[in-house]
Amino acid sequence: MRRPVTLITGANGEIGHGLIEHFSRVADVSVVALDLKPLDEGLQGKVAATVVGDILEVDLLQRLVSEYELRAIYHLAALLSTRAEYSPDTAHRVNVEGTLNLLKLAHEQAVWHGRPVLFMFPSSIAVYGLPDLETKAACARVREVDHNFPTTMYGCNKLYCEQLGRYYAQYYRQLSAEPRTSGVDFRALRFPGLISATTMPTGGTSDFAPEMIHAAAAGRPYACFVGEHARLPFMAMPDAIRALTQLAAAPVSRLRQRIYNIGAFSLSAGEIRRRVLAAFPGAEITFQPDRARAAIVDSWPADVDDTAARQDWGWKPEYDADRAFGEYLVPTISRYYAGQA
Ligand code: SER
Repeated sequence: MRRPVTLITGANGEIGHGLIEHFSRVADVSVVALDLKPLDEGLQGKVAATVVGDILEVDLLQRLVSEYELRAIYHLAALLSTRAEYSPDTAHRVNVEGTLNLLKLAHEQAVWHGRPVLFMFPSSIAVYGLPDLETKAACARVREVDHNFPTTMYGCNKLYCEQLGRYYAQYYRQLSAEPRTSGVDFRALRFPGLISATTMPTGGTSDFAPEMIHAAAAGRPYACFVGEHARLPFMAMPDAIRALTQLAAAPVSRLRQRIYNIGAFSLSAGEIRRRVLAAFPGAEITFQPDRARAAIVDSWPADVDDTAARQDWGWKPEYDADRAFGEYLVPTISRYYAGQA
């Protein structure tokens, strides 16, 4: 008999770390971790199995399901926004074709074992594209349906894959002689910029926040690539993991949509600097905006309207900015770098 498992793609990434730690504390979930690179040492022993490979390799995915029965997929593998601008073709392949491969796999699995396959997809504030700073200031909390005009390849990829997921969940093979559900239970969260105390993102555009905090804690100077007034919504990693698992656990009958904004707090780069200086008074943080990356940040909303998530499945962040810095980021990062010294 094939073993029922939860598949996590992009397992070595920031969300993967948090999710694997979470599932290692939940007795009844066996995780298979898939990543291009061998799983980070600290995570080995916390998963049932690791597969090293590429989501674009269909043979690899077929080998995987010859051994395991997929009950849930957390499809985290992606090239983030800055990285994707340097290699848009590769980004499209990984972010779109990779997602399509996994949606197909989820459908095949659901047909094979006769149960729905939960498909959790991290989307992003990058799906929004505000035309100018006046509009950004005027619509402080953007709703899911507004300003869906991304200016990055990554944002386009995420927006399209949200729609592909919705299509698979609701309309796949709608004209076949015997139309029936695809069995793919697709659910997506539009994450704000995520900040983890224990890992660093690679290739994102909201990275100036985690980079600033980690550099200060490590005693390194930091030149911020956006100006001090650049403002984005952010979220502490424990809230991001809680949001994913909470949406995953919500009864499908409660979900009036499949794609949800979630918010926590909104800060400008200057406000982040002030908070970092309060915690690490000697930190050297300057502003040296990079025109193109700053323009991407300017096109993303200052904050999001997450009313639907709050109403449908009870979303409520546990970390506002004070608690995120005071109880999570500063103490955990300080301990981490003290241990490295
Ligand atoms: N944090 C991501 C990025 O900056 C946005 O989802 O690319």
